[in-house]
Amino acid sequence: MIVLVTGGNRGIGREVCRQLAALGHTVLLTARSPEAAAKELGVESLRLDVTSGDDIAGVAAAVSERYGRLDVLVNNAAIAYDSWQRASSADLDVVREAAETNLYGPWRLIQALLPLLRNSEHPRIVNVSSEAASLAGMGGGTPAYNTTKVALNALTRMLAAELRGDGILVNAICPGWVATDMGGPGGRPVAEGASGIVWAATLPDHGPTGGFFRDGRPLPW
Ligand SMILES: NC(=O)c1ccc[n+]([C@@H]2O[C@H](COP(=O)([O-])OP(=O)(O)OC[C@H]3O[C@@H](n4cnc5c(N)ncnc54)[C@H](OP(=O)(O)O)[C@@H]3O)[C@@H](O)[C@H]2O)c1
Repeated sequence: MIVLVTGGNRGIGREVCRQLAALGHTVLLTARSPEAAAKELGVESLRLDVTSGDDIAGVAAAVSERYGRLDVLVNNAAIAYDSWQRASSADLDVVREAAETNLYGPWRLIQALLPLLRNSEHPRIVNVSSEAASLAGMGGGTPAYNTTKVALNALTRMLAAELRGDGILVNAICPGWVATDMGGPGGRPVAEGASGIVWAATLPDHGPTGGFFRDGRPLPW
């Protein structure tokens, strides 16, 4: 399979690239600075800032030219776990900036790569979300992060419905609390957080679509 991962240079994204490469898949590690991690993992790299329309167009063109198709897109890159903010007083510029990376980035990338996903026999889209986006359990805090991940979940549901007929499985995955730069110390190891994403990236054709999962088990919306 040909798999493209965003934010693959560190954290969970890098580990997803490592695990998928170990399974024998062709991994396109994308990031704002992808070279060092790609070299370490022995995978291909493409420069991609998900907020850049030019980068997105360049990546779509490069994948089209090299492979003519894409099997899996993993939208992993995200920012702004804004634990310093409350919704009642949040700086909306921070919210807007978060939306550029956490929502519009994946959305635009999906649109640009859909023709290539449609050329795949087993296309999948994995949107890396968070239980923080679960409306069922939502309280206050981290407003930029939560609202943008809720919107990413909504996008997941809509795309799953719209693309079901094309056989494209679209799911939202929470990696759990993971010890990364974003998660901070105390979380579980990246290998455990990444494995649920790899599960969604490698689902069989009869696998679920339009779901929200952690470790392969459903989460409440
Ligand atoms: N860690 C947790 O506990 C946890 C829990 C739930 C969900 N998640 C989700 O898991 C995913 C990965 O998180 P993480 O913990 O690995 O975070 P992380 O260590 O902070 O890494 C974030 C990644 O996103 C990339 N990124 C940020 N803005 C970007 C942009 N404009 N274009 C391209 N790449 C960009 C970063 O690249 P740079 O190096 O260039 O900044 C980095 O590779 C995120 O979607 C996050 O919301 C994490």
